[in-house]
Amino acid sequence: MIPIARPQMGDEEKELVWAVLSSGSLAQGARVRELEERFAAFIGVAHAVATSSGTTALHLALLGHRIGPGDEVITVPFTFIASATSIIYTGARPVFVDVEEGTYNIDVGQIEAAITPRTRAIMPVSLYGQPADLPAIAEIAERRGLALIEDAAQTHGAAVGERRSGSWGAGCFSFYPTKNMTTGEGGMVTTSDPELADRVRLGREHGMRVRYHHESLGYNFRMTDIHAAIGLAQLAKLPAYNARRRQIAARYDAELRGVITPHVTEGMTHVYHQYTIRVPRRDEFVERLRERGVGSGVYYPIPVHRQKPFVALGYGEQRFPVSELLAGQVVSIPVHPSLTEDEVAIVIAAVNATAVELGPIVAGTPA
Ligand SMILES: Cc1ncc(COP(=O)(O)O)c(C=O)c1O
Repeated sequence: MIPIARPQMGDEEKELVWAVLSSGSLAQGARVRELEERFAAFIGVAHAVATSSGTTALHLALLGHRIGPGDEVITVPFTFIASATSIIYTGARPVFVDVEEGTYNIDVGQIEAAITPRTRAIMPVSLYGQPADLPAIAEIAERRGLALIEDAAQTHGAAVGERRSGSWGAGCFSFYPTKNMTTGEGGMVTTSDPELADRVRLGREHGMRVRYHHESLGYNFRMTDIHAAIGLAQLAKLPAYNARRRQIAARYDAELRGVITPHVTEGMTHVYHQYTIRVPRRDEFVERLRERGVGSGVYYPIPVHRQKPFVALGYGEQRFPVSELLAGQVVSIPVHPSLTEDEVAIVIAAVNATAVELGPIVAGTPA
């Protein structure tokens, strides 16, 4: 079976981790600081704050903007649940806006209608490796006096023009093992706002700047030096990993038939955290791929507003027609950098044969 993800750990990771283990200093320290500096430089921002996960990065970025009870944050329902749970953790309310059918990202044209006097921030999710329309969202955020917190969990190295995902407002990355780079578990908040970075740091370590002097309520959302050591090795390899992902995606774009392939907006650099297609009779499609030896993943089968913890928000069933449509049609196929050309050919043959068997898929949202 060709797996949907295959994290790659080499001698570089092992040596750096071993050095940390041998030093006896395991918790947040010099390796975390080094990863923060290198990641900030890579994204093109002044500050990066390492966290225990992408979820805690989102939570801290929201708290860093002093978002809490009574506030609203605009985001999408077609995402991993952590985008929205991080908003709930602060006591604020997620307000959902549907996504676009082409890019799977937030429909910018619908954002302004969702803004109320309680709105404090817009949280676009840059899904599957392609940035949301960050320049347009930044323009709305600035004009309406709102914070921009990008869920960049899936876009390490993606860009709009020359400018990287994570460099508008606050960027929140995840280093979960299946991501384009990993630390095992981990995350990062990126920003060029020094005051926001300071508040995120405080929130990360018990509101403490001077040992055992606590200025504010905080958490232990730190990354360890063991995790940062893995991240340093991975960050050095990220450009090559992303280049390989893009090379495989280009082959899929050229050779897949009978399915809807990803739409990349002109000027965007997509880093293909996932290569996500839309297929007919999706659940059967997934099963036939499996029979042909190809693993796949459905990200995500149920939009967030219909997940049990969110039902109380009262959105009902069919409020977001594009999210619903995509949730029923998307499937991600292997695009990780360790795939061989032979494996890529097997994936292409399996998708194309299954598409012939299950019939054509048509673009467009049913009325
Ligand atoms: C879009 C999105 N947001 C948030 C997260 C949360 O990241 P983590 O799993 O590191 O907490 C993830 C990753 O799983 C994600 O894909």
